[in-house]
This record gives sequence, C-alpha cells and structure tokens, in this order.
Amino acid sequence: MREKRTKIQEVLAREPIGEELTLMGWVRTKRASKNVAFIALNDGSTINNIQVVADVEKFGEELLKKVTTGASIAATGKLVASQGAGQSCELIAESIEVFGEADPEKYPLQPKKHSLEFLREIAHLRLRTNTFSAIMRVRHAMAFAVHKFFNDKGFFYINTPIITSSDAEGAGEAFKVTNFELDAIPRNAEGEVDFKQDFFEKEANLTVSGQLEGELAAMALAEVYTFGPTFRAENSNTTRHLAEFWMIEPEMAFYDLKDNMDLAEEMLKYLVQHALDNCADDLAFLEKRAEEEDKNKPQAERAEMTLTERLKFVLENDFERVSYTEAIEILKRSKPNQKKKFQYLIEEWGADLQSEHERFLVEKHFKKPVILYNYPRDIKAFYMRQNDDGKTVGAMDILFPGIGEIIGGSQREERMDKLTERMEAMNIPVEEMSWYLDTRRFGSVPHSGYGLGFERMILFVTGMGNIRDVIPFPRTPGNCEF
Ligand code: 4AD
Ligand code: MG
Repeated sequence: MREKRTKIQEVLAREPIGEELTLMGWVRTKRASKNVAFIALNDGSTINNIQVVADVEKFGEELLKKVTTGASIAATGKLVASQGAGQSCELIAESIEVFGEADPEKYPLQPKKHSLEFLREIAHLRLRTNTFSAIMRVRHAMAFAVHKFFNDKGFFYINTPIITSSDAEGAGEAFKVTNFELDAIPRNAEGEVDFKQDFFEKEANLTVSGQLEGELAAMALAEVYTFGPTFRAENSNTTRHLAEFWMIEPEMAFYDLKDNMDLAEEMLKYLVQHALDNCADDLAFLEKRAEEEDKNKPQAERAEMTLTERLKFVLENDFERVSYTEAIEILKRSKPNQKKKFQYLIEEWGADLQSEHERFLVEKHFKKPVILYNYPRDIKAFYMRQNDDGKTVGAMDILFPGIGEIIGGSQREERMDKLTERMEAMNIPVEEMSWYLDTRRFGSVPHSGYGLGFERMILFVTGMGNIRDVIPFPRTPGNCEF
C-alpha cells in the first residue's frame, strides 16, 4: 500500500523536521549535479515548491531520467532543515515513484516564461503553471468568502434556474435552449417557429441574471443571494466580457437604495480583506508577476500602485457616491472630453456611460471606487424604481479602478401601477410576466439588490488584465474549447 500523502502547504507551514513523509506532486524543475538531483516539487496546495533531494547513485540514471518538468511523482523520505538558501526545509528522498512521465520534447510547459496568449491556447494545461494555480486558489478563496459573508449576515443561498423563459435584463442577449433538430425546425401555419413542439413547449434560454427569481425568494425569506453561472450572447470581445460568467446577486426586502449601496461596499471590502488575510503567498506571487509584466509596458501604462497597495486602498477609503447628473457635469467639463480624447464624447444628460468614462471618474477624477446612482430611466432596465423627478431611477453601479463597472444594481419598483406602466412602455409582455408581478400584487415591499460580476472581482484581486485569465475555461465569441 502507498504511503499517505502530506500536502506541501502543510509541510511548509508546520516544518516537521525529522519526520518521515510522502509528498506527491508534479515536478517543476530538476537540477542535477554528478551526485545529487534537486527536484522542485509542487502539488497545487500552495504556490511554493518543496525541494526533494535525490542521491543519483541510489536512484540511478534510469529512474531520474523520467523525473522531468511536468512529470508526476511520489517521494518518501525524511524532512530536514535545508542547507541551501531559498527554502527552510527539504525532503531527502528514500524512495521515489514516477506516476506519469512528461516527455520534454512534447510537454508544452517548459520552465520558461510563456505568454498569457500562448497559455490561453492550452487552457487545458495552463492550470499547472504558477500563475494560473495562484489565480484559481484566490478564486476559490473568494467564492468561499462570498458564502461566508452572506451566511454570517443571515442571508439564504437560493439556486435560481439556469434555463429560463424570461430575459431578465430585457437586452435580448440570451442564448437559446432547444432540442429541435436544427435542420428541420417545425413551423406553424403563420410560418413562425413552432415552439409548442419544442422541449419546454415554449421559447427557452440560458439565464442572463437570476434577479427576477431572486426577487420571488426575497418576498419570502427577506434576505437571499444567488451565486451561479450567467450567460450573455453579447458580441463584446473585450478584456472584461465573457459569454459565460458567474454572478453574485443578493436581493433584500426592506432595503432602499442607500442600504443597497452600504451592503455592496461592505461586501467588496470584506472580500478584499479576506484575500489579504488568506491568500498572502499567492497575492505576493501575482504582485511580482504584474510588476514584471509592467516593465515591458510604456511608462504611461504602468500601474501607479502595487497590487497590495490597490487592495488596501479599497479597504481604507469610503467609496465616492456621486449621482449620474453630477457625473455627467464632471465628464462634460473633463479634459479628455474638451480635447475630444474620449471615443464617445459626452454632450448631454441622458448619455449612457462607456467604460472610458467610468474609468476616468475612478482613476483620474476621484481616484477611488465610485458608486454612481440615480441614472436616467431610459437607459436602465424596467424593474428599477422610478424617482419622483420623473426622469431618473434608483439605480446604482459601482466602478473600480482598472475594471470599470464591477457591480450593477438598484432599488426595485415595488408599486404595481408604476411597474406595469414601465413594462408597457418598454414592450415587455406583461401577461407572460404575471408570475413576477405577483410579487407586487401580493404583499409587495420596498426592496433592492445588485449583481457582482465574480470574474471582474477576481480580476481586481489578482491584478490580472484579461478576464479570460481568471476563469478556468473562458467562453468568448469564437471560443468554446474543452
Ligand atoms: O449590470 P448587470 O447587467 O446587472 C444585472 O444583471 C442585474 N440583474 C443585477 C442585479 O441587480 N441583481 O450585471 C451585473 C454585473 C456587472 O456589473 C458586471 O460586473 C457583471 O455582472 N457582468 C459581466 N461580467 C463578465 N462578462 C459579462 N459579459 C458581464 N456582463 C455583466
Ligand atoms: Mg450593468
């Protein structure tokens, strides 16, 4: 029987010098002199490798030849205090078993710097690099922290459907779900696609947001949240858009817009604090990685703060709360607008804000996270609460440095007449949404909620620049590998 595996993370934390241990993992590098081979082993439990020392004579050339970068091994031996610099302890191997070889002629991940673009093409292997394993551990820690944050506050985790027949955001960006034979789609007498013959006997799609169903749950459990996959068929080939992403959507009865902002700000700070407290080694590695990447950029594009400084900055500053109307005034008078440097110039109240405007407000003007609220009714979704001015709604977006919009949310319109009026004006089928309107028909209460794009949060926390690099298997236009 094989010895029990001890995790490298645990060994490095505990340093049980003198104990006999079995480590299992993948070889990062091997350095061999005439008498000894030094094997840097990583097992995914931490960014840090442990050094396994193997006597060449004892193990023989034949076995050590198989111990190459990427190969998987088990090594049993005694842990000793390290002689060399760079590590505190190392394992003197007494036995080595090679599980799987990795032919150096063929294994794509050799110990040299690979570009992120190259790694994206071998996303099935990139998790084995330091960068991607660090990102995935941080991602895990953040998912855990999301649940912990809400659980500690007494929120209930609700699983809203992935297949739905509603388009919550009304933006028409939903992927269709059907089991029609695509080359023989049935049509009715009018020549329209006959969805009555489809699996669900109606049109169905992948969810763009769990909000509307979240609202149903909030009308019973008061404070709930969803955390699930979300799909958008928008053809945006940017560094911040995915076709499949994960969204966290809390929905709270009895919250107004200010309560909503307070919760969102508290949550973002909690997540950042959790990362600082629990992911120190991975963040230190990612910070160094970002700094090295910055060296290849022109001075003007380099980050002004280190990753840790950026994270602490979010913790230590109150987010600036600014109305849309104030923001438009700032943008109109701004240098890039006056000098026509913005791609989309801000000319009048009512304009939708682009990412360049959001980033100007955050990075140049306020130099801290910004919560923009009270947006024009006409550029926002039907469910947002109408303000008394007759032209704005109680929406709020949170904008982050380097990211732009990280959260979008609102107080919801709880008044039946106002809501249906808005739906009719926006051509949203009131009949079909009868289930949603029952929340307003029976026991309606003021309520609010928001959506945090999980990958945008991971982008911020890891300091990565492209959203494709913070999800294991990115789906973007033209890309659905693995
Ligand atoms: O602003 P959005 O579209 O809001 C909603 O879906 C609301 N129903 C949320 C709510 O109130 N419950 O999306 C919310 C957030 C955005 O701020 C952004 O962080 C993220 O989801 N997001 C995306 N992330 C990655 N790729 C995309 N294509 C995204 N679209 C939105
Ligand atoms: Mg939005």
